[in-house]
Amino acid sequence: MKALVLAGGKGTRLRPLTHTSAKQLVPVANKPVLFYGLEALRDAGVTEVGIVVGDTAQEVRDAVGDGSSFGLEVTYIPQDAPLGLAHCVLIARRFLGDDPFVMYLGDNFLVGGIRDLVDSFRDGGHDAQILLTKVAEPQFYGVAELGPDGQIVGLAEKPERPRSDLAIVGVYIFSPVIHEAVRAITPSARGELEITDAISWLIQRGYHVHSHLVSGYWKDTGRLQDMLECNRIVLEQVEPEINGTVDGLSEITGRVVVERGAVVENSVLRGPIVVGANSKIVSSYVGPFTSIGPGCVVTNAEIEYSIVLDGSTVVGVSRIGHSLIGRNVEVTSAEGAPNTHELMVGDHSKIKVRV
Ligand code: DAU
Repeated sequence: MKALVLAGGKGTRLRPLTHTSAKQLVPVANKPVLFYGLEALRDAGVTEVGIVVGDTAQEVRDAVGDGSSFGLEVTYIPQDAPLGLAHCVLIARRFLGDDPFVMYLGDNFLVGGIRDLVDSFRDGGHDAQILLTKVAEPQFYGVAELGPDGQIVGLAEKPERPRSDLAIVGVYIFSPVIHEAVRAITPSARGELEITDAISWLIQRGYHVHSHLVSGYWKDTGRLQDMLECNRIVLEQVEPEINGTVDGLSEITGRVVVERGAVVENSVLRGPIVVGANSKIVSSYVGPFTSIGPGCVVTNAEIEYSIVLDGSTVVGVSRIGHSLIGRNVEVTSAEGAPNTHELMVGDHSKIKVRV
C-alpha cells in the first residue's frame, strides 16, 4: 500500500494566510495540519508516500524533507496547476505503479488514525473505499446518497441541492482500477478533474466502492471555524508540560504546554493551551483552546480560543477571541486622541471590531 498526499491547490478560503504559504502547513496546536496526516499514514504502516505540490512546493519540501523524520520515504510530485483531485492521481501514475493506495487530502484532519480503514480495505477486496460523515452544510463537500442497504447510489461534488447530509471525507483508498477512471472522465463545470466523478465512473461500471461512516472527529481545515475547532480538539488531549520558565506570580490551570525557552511572567494561563518555544507572556491572560506559536510576545493582553502564528505580538489588547493571527503580525493598542482603530491590513483579511 502506498499513499498519495495532496498538498498543492489554491487555499483561497484561508486567505490572506494562504496567499503565499501552504494551507496544509497552517498549525494546529503548533504543528502543521499536514503532519497529522503523515503520522496517521505511518501509524497505519504506509511508508511510501508521494506528495503532490504546487506553487508552495518549496515550503512543503522545507517542512517535510525526505520524510525520514516521520519514518516515511517521500517522493514529491509537482503539479503545474490545481487541475483537480483526479488530476493528481493522473500525474502520480508512475509513482503509484500498480499498488493500491491511500489518497489523503493534506488539509484534512481526522482523529483516530486510519489503521482500521487500511486493514478493512486490505481484507475487504473492494475496488475503492470512501469515508463519509454527517455534516451540517453538505453543499460545501462531495456528497453521497446511499441506498437502503447502505450501498452508494449517487455521488455529487458540492451540489446546490444535496441529496443527503453525508459528506465525502478527504481520505480515500483505491485499487489500481482508479487509473482507468481518472483517464476516462472530463473536467467538471469548475474546470477540475473531480475524484468524485472518477468514483462515480467506477460505480456505474459495477466496480465495488465500499463506504464507511466515520464516527470520530473530522474536519476539512479550509475555514477559520474549522481550524479553531481542530485546535480545540488537539489541545484537549495534550499532555501538560512546562519546559520554559514560569514565575511565581503566574497561575497555571489545566492542560498547559510551555515550550522550551518560553517565559511566562505575572500571567494567568487557563488550559488547554500551548505556548510556543521562545515566546513571552507578560501580565496577560491566555484562555482555553489557544495556541501561541514560537517567538510570540503577549503583553498586557487577553486572548482565548485563538491561534497565533510565529513571531507575532499582541500588546495591550483585550480581549481577543475566535481569531487566527498570522505570522509576524502586530496587534497593539492605539494611544491618545482621536479615539480610532488604526489598521494596516492585508488583502482578503477579515476584521471584526466590537464597537
Ligand atoms: O475535504 C473533503 C472534500 O475535499 C471532499 O468532500 C470533496 O469531495 C473533495 O472534492 C475535496 O473538496 P475541496 O474543495 O475541499 O478540495 P480542495 O480544493 O480544498 O483540495 C483538497 C486538497 O487537495 C488540498 O490540500 C489541496 C489539494 N489539491 C487540490 C487540487 C484541486 C491539490 O494538491 N491539487 C489540486 O489540483
